[in-house]
Amino acid sequence: MSYPKVNYIGNKEKIVDWIASIIPADAGSFFDVFSGGCSVSYKAKSMGLRVLSNDILTINYHIAKALIENEHETLDPADVEAIFDGVPFEGFMYNNYAERYYFADECRELDLIRSNISKLDNPYKQSLAFALIRRAMIRKMPYSRFTINWEKIVELRDEDLSYAKYGRKRSYHNKSFRYHFEDNLKEYNDAVFSTGEGHKAYNLDVFDAISEVDADAIYLDPPYAGTMNNYYGFYGMIDTFINGEVRPPFENNFMDKRTIKDRFYELFSRLGKYRYWMLSYNSRSTPSKDEMLELLHRFADDVTIYEMPYAYRVTGKEKKHKDIEYLFLVDTHLR
Ligand SMILES: C[S@@+](CC[C@H](N)C(=O)[O-])C[C@H]1O[C@@H](n2cnc3c(N)ncnc32)[C@H](O)[C@@H]1O
Repeated sequence: MSYPKVNYIGNKEKIVDWIASIIPADAGSFFDVFSGGCSVSYKAKSMGLRVLSNDILTINYHIAKALIENEHETLDPADVEAIFDGVPFEGFMYNNYAERYYFADECRELDLIRSNISKLDNPYKQSLAFALIRRAMIRKMPYSRFTINWEKIVELRDEDLSYAKYGRKRSYHNKSFRYHFEDNLKEYNDAVFSTGEGHKAYNLDVFDAISEVDADAIYLDPPYAGTMNNYYGFYGMIDTFINGEVRPPFENNFMDKRTIKDRFYELFSRLGKYRYWMLSYNSRSTPSKDEMLELLHRFADDVTIYEMPYAYRVTGKEKKHKDIEYLFLVDTHLR
């Protein structure tokens, strides 16, 4: 089995082996509390750990439920037929989002697909279907995020214009939802595997999640303040599609440079029940490495910093920045 194409902004796919090598050998359970696209959870599951995954976004909960908690269920051809069966209709997506993110006929299709997914009789199949329709929605969306305005979307989806202006047709934006769904189906089905450890997915704010979930190690990969970190903006639209309503922006956001230190202080002060804390951060973000170290030392003496030079894409313009990725490992038993 291997981790499928999720293409989550800020994912740790490229450095997941390095992160995994730092997980203490005596940790049997691993709580990925900002699980996003689940790249780290998936690796931890494949290592035989019991994995608990949490994210505030509903769609990320479904990704975790489909790929981490789910151990057996896949989508067969009859399920796919059922998901796309029927006549597209004017529902929630059409009424609220036609020509905001997708064309009107595509919104009608989304209304049909959403209604059909809720009729699948198995919750793991539903989550897998949401993960796949997410993939299709993202493939059709220029820059793979929902922070682009309609005029720009129309421009970037005009294949001739896009070719003339940017040298790329981006024809995949104009393929159907079903095309992308089926294009990724085998990869997602093949990614489902069992280790029998009782993995679990949660959809909570981090502060609620930590009062509910016990584990030997907690892994924190929050949005990095000062970088491209507006996850509500990037993916909130997919939650709106799933839930049929607009949810408010995250209350505890880790985006604001002015409040970020207080937010971390509050978070660290409530992590006492976890023996190991693993925190990802990078050299372009606030607080700085030294400030973070000082903050962590208020709660534990034993803090080790691992560093990894890491180049990654910041925008659709393929601009590369050289950053250093940090991993802070805290052992709270050594005081
Ligand atoms: C850097 S991403 C995690 C990426 C993930 N490790 C991966 O490899 O795909 C940070 C995640 O934190 C989530 N998040 C932001 N604020 C949150 C909060 N208050 N509680 C829980 N999750 C939150 C975002 O939805 C986002 O998925």
